[in-house]
Amino acid sequence: MSFRKDFLWGGAISANQVEGAWNSDGKGMSVADVASYKPNLNVTDYAGHNKITLSMIKEAIDDKSTKFYPKRRGINFYNHYKEDIALFAEMGFKSLRLSIAWTRIFPTGEENEPNYDGIKYYENIFKELKKYNIEPIVTLSHYEMPLNLSLKYNGWVDRKLIGYFVKFSKVCFESFGKYVKYWLTFNEIDSVGRHPFITAGIIPDQCEEGKLNNAIYQALHHQYVAAALATKECHEIIKDSKMGCMLTKLTTYPNTCNPNDVLLSLSSNLGNYSHADIQIFGEYPKLHKTFLKNLGVEIKMEDNDEIILKENTADYLAFSYYMSRTESSDSTKEKTAGNTIMGVKNPYLPSTEWGWQIDPVGLHISLIELYDRYRIPLMIVENGMGAKDVVLEDGTIHDSYRIEYFKEHIIEMKKAVDMGVDLLGYTSWAPIDCISVSTSQMSKRYGFIYVDQDDDGNGTLKRLKKDSFFWYKKVISTNGEILE
Ligand code: BG6
Repeated sequence: MSFRKDFLWGGAISANQVEGAWNSDGKGMSVADVASYKPNLNVTDYAGHNKITLSMIKEAIDDKSTKFYPKRRGINFYNHYKEDIALFAEMGFKSLRLSIAWTRIFPTGEENEPNYDGIKYYENIFKELKKYNIEPIVTLSHYEMPLNLSLKYNGWVDRKLIGYFVKFSKVCFESFGKYVKYWLTFNEIDSVGRHPFITAGIIPDQCEEGKLNNAIYQALHHQYVAAALATKECHEIIKDSKMGCMLTKLTTYPNTCNPNDVLLSLSSNLGNYSHADIQIFGEYPKLHKTFLKNLGVEIKMEDNDEIILKENTADYLAFSYYMSRTESSDSTKEKTAGNTIMGVKNPYLPSTEWGWQIDPVGLHISLIELYDRYRIPLMIVENGMGAKDVVLEDGTIHDSYRIEYFKEHIIEMKKAVDMGVDLLGYTSWAPIDCISVSTSQMSKRYGFIYVDQDDDGNGTLKRLKKDSFFWYKKVISTNGEILE
């Protein structure tokens, strides 16, 4: 066996990390536009980077520059998209995962009519992709939503958000349905618990004292219902469309065979799965309901929510995979950073400069676990390594560490496919350098394409091909057969 003939090789980007043009052509302010770059924080201090207060937001609203807010400038994909898509095409991309900025279509989320300029912009992108036969995979919500909805309703805590999101989704399906077959509702929906503001617009200051957990799970419930309703609309409006749900795959190992470590890793994995369970099986797992009850969380549901969830489940499961985690019942064990979540250091694994543990076999394990549990097609929509790259005088960038990372992961992915896992595609994060979601750094680079810009926004924005560019091109042209 091998990768299917129509395997969707490609890359993944998100609007708020690449587009820039944060206030052009009628775009409204989003939660990403108030994420500031904090140069003096330890890069692995996710709590520090994700900290948000009402006064920080007000300060950001008053500051009209991009200086301290790198996501406002991105890599100016907004104006460079033709050049960037041509480079993706040169690598032979079969697919590009991208997201639509809600605030380009509905600047505050509450308008009755969409912003025509926003629709036109995405339509141009889809036309450009079509020119090269690159299949778009579109995420409706990738760490970006109208700031207005966050300030006014505390984001997804309020049920009204379901209606606003479904309205936005319908406009997307109606406007872009002729170009887009593969859709995704929420990027890494599980991350509402880890960074509630960028994922769900929840401002902790606006939550009742001691009730943040309630807000998080209520917001999640509203997102599950909204995702189900968007799935229904998608199927009705676009013939043959496929709507996926998405998980951060946080594969967690027990630190030892101490049963207490095993129990901890089991509950951690079940917590991670619960989000996909709800969207794929169409109901809250019984164990998850008990978990919420023990946490003192009571979710307000409406009468037909359970029916909506049951009747509109996801067609495929997409997931990001960067690393594995380790749980230990011994609280003195050394911790390491991860994809916005900490774990105990695994002595068998090397780490990136940001402390993310590199574990290709973990991807193999994840694919087997997920396919065995859900038995629907899978898609790897993010996988990659953040690193500091050096540009030599002749403009070359020798990123052998990145090639090695991808090679090892693709080898393990292939082994899982050979075992029978139904895998639709693989989109690396990110094919072009962009602003880091967790640290807002530019110097945390993931791309096959280098972008000349530093953390402070200085640079020409010139695009340069790294060694990995040529390597990935070869991988795609041989459908994953040649990895050297
Ligand atoms: C994923 C996100 O969790 O991790 C991406 O979906 C993000 O948006 C990626 O960029 C890598 O994280 P970071 O913090 O290194 O940008």
